Amino acid sequence: MNRQILVTSALPYANGPLHLGHLVEYTQTDIWVRYQRLRGHECLYFCADDAHGTPIMLRAQREGISPEELITRMHQEHSRDFADFHIDFTLYHSTHSPENFEISQELYRALRAAELIEIREIEQAYDPVAKIFLPDRFIRGTCPRCKAPDQYGDNCEICGATYSPTDLLDPVSAISGARPERRRSEHYFFQLPDFQDFLHHWIHSGTLQPEMANKLEEWFAHGLSDWDISRDAPYFGIPIPDAPGKFFYVWLDALPGYMAATLHWCRQQGRDFGMFWGPDASVELYHFIGKDIIYFHALFWPALLKGSGHRLPNGVFAHGHLTVNGAKMSKSRGTSITARQYLEHLDPEFLRYYFASKLNPHVEDLDLNLEDFLHKGNGDLVGKVVNLASRAAGFIHRYFDGKLGASLGPDQSFYDSLVHQRESVGQAYEQRDYARAVREIMALADQVNAYVDREAPWLLAKEESRRDRLQQVATCTLNGFRLLMTLLHPIVPKLSERSLAFLRCSLDWDGVTHPLLKHSIASYEHLLQRMEKSQVDALIQPSETIPASAPEIPTDAFISIEDFGKVDLRIARIVAAETVAGADKLLHLTLDIGEEKTRSVFAGIKSSYDPAQLVGRLTVMVANLAPRKMRFGLSEGMVLAASDSEAGPFLLSPDSGARPGMRVK
Ligand code: MSP
Ligand code: ZN
Repeated sequence: MNRQILVTSALPYANGPLHLGHLVEYTQTDIWVRYQRLRGHECLYFCADDAHGTPIMLRAQREGISPEELITRMHQEHSRDFADFHIDFTLYHSTHSPENFEISQELYRALRAAELIEIREIEQAYDPVAKIFLPDRFIRGTCPRCKAPDQYGDNCEICGATYSPTDLLDPVSAISGARPERRRSEHYFFQLPDFQDFLHHWIHSGTLQPEMANKLEEWFAHGLSDWDISRDAPYFGIPIPDAPGKFFYVWLDALPGYMAATLHWCRQQGRDFGMFWGPDASVELYHFIGKDIIYFHALFWPALLKGSGHRLPNGVFAHGHLTVNGAKMSKSRGTSITARQYLEHLDPEFLRYYFASKLNPHVEDLDLNLEDFLHKGNGDLVGKVVNLASRAAGFIHRYFDGKLGASLGPDQSFYDSLVHQRESVGQAYEQRDYARAVREIMALADQVNAYVDREAPWLLAKEESRRDRLQQVATCTLNGFRLLMTLLHPIVPKLSERSLAFLRCSLDWDGVTHPLLKHSIASYEHLLQRMEKSQVDALIQPSETIPASAPEIPTDAFISIEDFGKVDLRIARIVAAETVAGADKLLHLTLDIGEEKTRSVFAGIKSSYDPAQLVGRLTVMVANLAPRKMRFGLSEGMVLAASDSEAGPFLLSPDSGARPGMRVK
């Protein structure tokens, strides 16, 4: 039976480039969508840029352009990245679209008519210079607990305390630097608590992964609160009907963005929107999301849909977050790799394959280990799969004029057993257990490789009398290859296309039950280039400056005297200072610390110092910092310098009398 399915991925924010973490989600979704289409189902895949909100408005201001210009540019960049990673959207729309204005405002009117909106006055931080209300993230100040300076309005990165912006000592606006005032204004609240019972039942109805439902229980334990859905002008967003100067909070138009994309497409195609989103919609609906936005998709969204008289999703699937080489992606470590940076060095299908090999239906984080990535891509795709084709094609062209044999002879049952295993792979795709799909496909590849080793076609080729058998073996091998490329199609669609074009056959899940026989294949051309280690190494480009803060952030406010004792601070004489080609912030310093060998250190101090003036002077360095490999060379320590957002850096100097190598305590 053919299914009709509508699938979405979360809408990426339009205020920055896509990185490899994002691609986990779009790859996960795209594989599922391609699998459904491969099985003959109608599977629509909608997504869009999430284009509204304060960060986008402020970024546009900083760049001196209008928010519309910014989001147009980001939409182009995102679309290009997605296309290059072969993410096959039915439509990639934007939340800043006429359809979304229409849908979001309609949805709101329905909620208001159902008496689900309440208005009340609240007090908030206001920037009197920039003339805008400040989201918590845009207020900075001294942590009330550990007194660390320059912390966010909602939590302290140094001691982990959470608080409200009013608790900050000397708070300032991150936009203008002004001291925020308290101001009152009217806000609009969605009555989430009205849905307490409905939601509690719904999250356990099998729509969510069990671990997601468990996590959500925490919210019910405290009781749900109403949700502030309005923001005051100036705000880049959608105006709230009949409420001058009020806009929807970005999430209130982002979620309906799924519907707006569908509406745009329905109008283009002359399809009935109601069958997708109406209360009696017949189409299956699934949302793929990251674990950080479960709250929005599993509580607010079903409540908004229900409250406004729409259908509910059949499934919300959350995935974990991506780490690189075992750690959170980090700009200073160079592991915050953008989609574009990746594409400059490597074939996107290696990444799709690697993510697939790690993805399962659970909300688990996954790690991109670059060494493992290199070996898996080359070992599996090139070594186990593509090599089958190049080996067997050689015989078919050399001895049989490019034509496959008339039968598989005694190997028909072997081939049947391979084909038989594809249903289990299909189930793994359906259940989003791609790690299992990949394991099973590679187990099939192993069986075909073992078959080739066993039959040793290169020996058969030496005997004129065994030509028929040689043709059977090569034919069976190529049919095995065709099966593998059919099964791998959702993961590596382009490699699969090239491979099937070489076999001159079409993609057909059930067609593989009949092997290609008496069939001419094309001449073999390279299907996939191996990755080189140097290409993979090039993905990591540490930022050019050494992070200003210490690399380890203590989790508690105090460190012990023992901790401090671990830091080996020394007086150092700068014996050489040079600029670094290609780095606009760095100087390369050679430091004498009274040891035989001098130290080579890259320091982000170029903006304050002329290198010639530094030579000969004394300063303080951390001598036992683990060496860091930077783009320009090894940095064997760190010099100490003072700075704040306005001035610096200023190198520290000892009083006269100090000598290189002296310990600083
Ligand atoms: N704009 C919101 C979503 C609105 S949906 C109505 C948003 N945008 S986002 O750009 O921050 O993230 C988009 C998706 O990418 C989210 O599902 C998020 O979980 C996912 N990821 C972002 N970084 C990620 C990793 N490091 N790892 C895996 N997924 C990540 O949230
Ligand atoms: Zn703190």
